[in-house]
Parts: sequence; C-alpha cells; structure tokens
Amino acid sequence: MISFSDVDLELDKKLIFSKLNLTIQQGELVYIVGKSGTGKSTLLKSLYMDVRPKKGEIKIAGYSSKTIKKRQIPLLRRKLGIIFQDFRLLEDRNVYENLEFVLKVTGTKQKLITELVMHALESVGLEHAAKMMPLRLSGGEQQRISIARALVREPLVILADEPTGNLDPDTSLEILDYLKRINQKNITVIIGTHDYELVRHSPSRTLQIVGQNIVESTMEKSATGFRPAVASS
Ligand SMILES: Nc1ncnc2c1ncn2[C@@H]1O[C@H](COP(=O)(O)OP(=O)(O)O)[C@@H](O)[C@H]1O
Ligand SMILES: [Mg+2]
Repeated sequence: MISFSDVDLELDKKLIFSKLNLTIQQGELVYIVGKSGTGKSTLLKSLYMDVRPKKGEIKIAGYSSKTIKKRQIPLLRRKLGIIFQDFRLLEDRNVYENLEFVLKVTGTKQKLITELVMHALESVGLEHAAKMMPLRLSGGEQQRISIARALVREPLVILADEPTGNLDPDTSLEILDYLKRINQKNITVIIGTHDYELVRHSPSRTLQIVGQNIVESTMEKSATGFRPAVASS
C-alpha cells in the first residue's frame, strides 16, 4: 500500500501540493492527470523519494518518508520500476546489457541475471532484440525496453512519468497495453500523463491535480467523449 498523510511538497520553496491525503492499494492501476506544470512529476518523484515532503508522511513499499535513511533510498528504489518519457537507456550498451546493468549493481548471480533479463524482455515481446543497440530501435521499442528494465528486479510498483509523451497515438496505446498486462500481475502501476486519450482508452482510477491538491476524477462521458469530471481550474 502507498499512502500520503497531510503531505506538503515543495520545489525550490514553491508549494506544489498542500495537505495531500491519498491511499493507493497494491495492484491498482492509477492515472495522475493534470496539465503541464501542475506537479505530476513532483508527485512521482516523492514516491521514489527524490523529493522529500516538507510536512506529513509518505509510506511506500514498507518505508516511510519520516524514518527512511539516506542510505536506504537505493533499497526502496529496488522495489520500484521507474519509466520516463525519454526512455533513458544507456546508448553505448546493447539491450541485454542495459537490463543486466540494473541487476549487476545489486550483485545478482550471473545465471539468475540471464534468466531475469530474458524473462523481462519476453514480457515486452523483445527477446529477439537482446543484442541490438537501443538507438537502432524505434521509439516504441525503446520504451518497451525501458519497461523491461523497470521489471527486471520484479518491482512492487511501476512509476511511469509521461511514458507515451514521445510516441505517436497508436504506439502510445501499445505501451499502455504492456503496462496493463504488468498490472494484472498485481504490480501497482502509476502513470502520470496529460494524455486524456490514454485514460479514455483504458479507464481506471484517475487522480486529477487541481490547484495544490488531488481529487478523484471519474472521467465522465459527455457529448464530446470522456472528459475529466472536475475542471482543472
Ligand atoms: N527543478 C525544479 N525547480 C523548481 N521548480 C520546478 C522544478 N521542476 C519543476 N518545477 C516547477 O514545479 C511545478 C511542478 O512541476 P512538475 O512536477 O514537473 O509538473 P508536471 O510533471 O505536471 O509538468 C511547476 O510549476 C514547475 O515549473
Ligand atoms: Mg512532468
């Protein structure tokens, strides 16, 4: 379970969220929606403790923002898989090595590394790309590799910050389908996005950033299709 209790989040002394209260259960798929600059990335960063709350408490994967020690943050992050808009693959290493890298730093045995890497690549349908260099792949394929990299340590939670931001609409839906498939294995998936098209394609719990807070948004059906129930004032 993930929880925010009365959390204030600040960036450079600018208050982004105030008295945030929120609970996400293990195995949920949650969208965080809001226009650019509303705080989607900040919220996700607070979950991997790149941004620490000014007030209140965030609990995730057995850790608390109040008590976690600096040296424990890498241990927390091992339980999370993080996906970015710009993929962030190592361009001078092949696909296999990109995934292997994540496991080597935690001292996983070589035989197990091969197993885990190939299993993760299979889960995004790219086992045949193991020896390819990332830049030889399409944007959609690079994002699938970054999903595989996020999966390789068998995380409890996947945090995806605008995972489809660099992709065309069809490829975006394909990426979303992989994230949904992962979610079916009881991995919590949290997707920050300003792309309502995605949410409309696969409705699920949607948290909308409104001012310095978050509201549950039931993407209402209207004449123009789905739209967020609460206007982003
Ligand atoms: N490194 C930073 N230092 C100061 N302010 C920042 C920084 N990054 C983002 N901000 C500001 O914080 C607010 C929230 O940003 P962000 O979480 O990136 O929003 P989103 O991901 O929804 O676009 C914005 O007003 C943005 O300008
Ligand atoms: Mg952002």
